Amino acid sequence: MDIIHEGKVKRVFQEPDSPERVIIEFTDTVTAGDGKKRQVIEGKGELACRMSEYLFGYLEGKGIDTHYVKPLSGARLLCRKVAIYPIEVVCRNIAAGSFCRRYGLERGEPLRRPLVEFFVKDDSLHDPLIAKDSIILLGLLEEDVLQFMKSVTLSANYYLTELFRQQELTLVDFKLEFGSTKDGHVVLADELSGDTMRVWDNDSTSVDKDVFREDKGDLIEAYTQLVDSLKMTRPEDVSLRPETVKVIVDPKGGIKNPPGEVTKKALVRLGFSDVEEVRVGKIFKIQLKRPLTSEILNQLRMMSVKLLSNPISEKHEVSLD
Ligand code: TMP
Ligand code: ASP
Repeated sequence: MDIIHEGKVKRVFQEPDSPERVIIEFTDTVTAGDGKKRQVIEGKGELACRMSEYLFGYLEGKGIDTHYVKPLSGARLLCRKVAIYPIEVVCRNIAAGSFCRRYGLERGEPLRRPLVEFFVKDDSLHDPLIAKDSIILLGLLEEDVLQFMKSVTLSANYYLTELFRQQELTLVDFKLEFGSTKDGHVVLADELSGDTMRVWDNDSTSVDKDVFREDKGDLIEAYTQLVDSLKMTRPEDVSLRPETVKVIVDPKGGIKNPPGEVTKKALVRLGFSDVEEVRVGKIFKIQLKRPLTSEILNQLRMMSVKLLSNPISEKHEVSLD
């Protein structure tokens, strides 16, 4: 089999019979701190693979598109072939890890709401935190892809948090990667395991890679506990979370906008003499039955052109924030 990519802990092979499929193999290597700390722990790859298989399958079942297709023997998964975006997306519910170091917080401080952060996927730069505006300015992602990733990350956070909660485990934070399929769909990719998330049990004990990062126990024991807990979850008990998106309809400049003219006159009459021009648009808040996918995003664009806006006199924008 041809190897397409060799990462620190996974290998990606071309599936010989299908150009749009790859085989991802999870190795027993575990690394931390940009690979500075490294060890081979027998059985780790198989456990990380089983977690990824379970969690990708679960998220697919809730309507989130992923690269996962099916399990293969050994520590391997059959996946859709994607081009991975150069941004890692981290979602945090509780302060831990680099968030505590960066802002001087205590480990374990709950965050008021889930926080989504973006990092550049580049070990030679030590995966730096990056602002959304910088991502756009540097051309690392298109704005709509960035918004889409954030929206999917928050949905995944809800579904994963609820699943772990069933086993009295707390999802502290996790990292996601996204990729684009040949037909342009943006899907969740890479892995979802103890290697890429922090999970605490009742007394805030880590059952994730922090066991290895901080030398605080047996990683295989922790990962086995996670896999066994996942097997006991009931995905069907986690209810679907309604998603809200906005379509913003913005009147184009240079075209008469009578409601805007009326509003402007009224404002000036009230004494707001600095108002030069007003244009009135519309915002549609649309509640979806299931998480956002690239396909639904395309449908929203079609709705905007066909019904929600008049493409001759108005611009439209799908906003996921
Ligand atoms: P951090 O606190 O080190 O920034 O990590 C946040 C989450 O992201 C944590 O669950 C571990 C995960 N993560 C990765 O999966 N890969 C990485 O390279 C880093 C830095 C973090
Ligand atoms: N820095 C990553 C982590 O600690 C892994 C690595 O860089 O080797 O999760």
